[in-house]
Amino acid sequence: MKKIVAIMTACVLALSMAACGSKNPDQNASSEASSAAVSESSGAEASAASGEAGGLDTIKANGKLVMLTNATFPPFEYIGDDGSVAGVDPDVAAEIAKDLGVELEILDMNFDLLIEAVKSGKGDFAAAGMTITPERQEQVDFSKEYVKSAQYLIVQKGSSITKDTLDGTTIAVQESTTGDFYASDEVQAKEVMRFKGATETGAALIAGKCDAVILDKLPAEAIVANSNGKLELLPDPLTEESYAFAVKKGNAELLDAINATLQRLMDEGKIDELVTEHANAA
Ligand code: ARG
Repeated sequence: MKKIVAIMTACVLALSMAACGSKNPDQNASSEASSAAVSESSGAEASAASGEAGGLDTIKANGKLVMLTNATFPPFEYIGDDGSVAGVDPDVAAEIAKDLGVELEILDMNFDLLIEAVKSGKGDFAAAGMTITPERQEQVDFSKEYVKSAQYLIVQKGSSITKDTLDGTTIAVQESTTGDFYASDEVQAKEVMRFKGATETGAALIAGKCDAVILDKLPAEAIVANSNGKLELLPDPLTEESYAFAVKKGNAELLDAINATLQRLMDEGKIDELVTEHANAA
């Protein structure tokens, strides 16, 4: 009897773990199905430059623009009170969709999958507080930059760690981000802890599982603001970066449309407004 109970407990545990594990990726199951339709229907009209998935003809024919993101990065993208993806990038993307006269659909996925997803046409573009880097530029085309940012260090309040004493420490980052690249390439860290979500890094630091977090400025500020005074943001930036939206290489039509809307919003001072609005909300 004891054995059976033990086996059953193990099964229940395994089941519940499987359920937890699949929550994130499966969240998008239904929207993924519909975004697949986007790329499928694109084969029909192979207009010279824009016959690819995500060309403007396809987007207009389908009546929707599909944005790819990773919603663990407030104020740029996070899960809002109603459970849907909110933030600066979704709001900017909504303006792009409005200017094109189509609906906006958002697919939330792991950050490290975004570039591949843009390349394979899983969506039309990535909007994820994504930094322009030379390596990424080889794989996707970037829009105009719409935000300037930098990597910053978060430490436990009162910690003596600075950017000059990072060697030999354990550093938490979001996987495949510029914070990860900094911790991996510029520092002789004892260990780099890579998390799927940006906000998870703060929890690890509060729990004492690492010595420092390297993260983009505004998400880092959000983590510190929500840490009940346990964490502190060091004032010196580690890098200089610019964010842009990413489209599939060669998708010049969509890129032009994105750039036109970005320029309009920047001229109107709207991006700054959205940053302030979401920094207060997130
Ligand atoms: N700016 C950094 C990068 O491009 C981090 C971006 C993380 N974005 C996100 N939505 N989680 O690597």
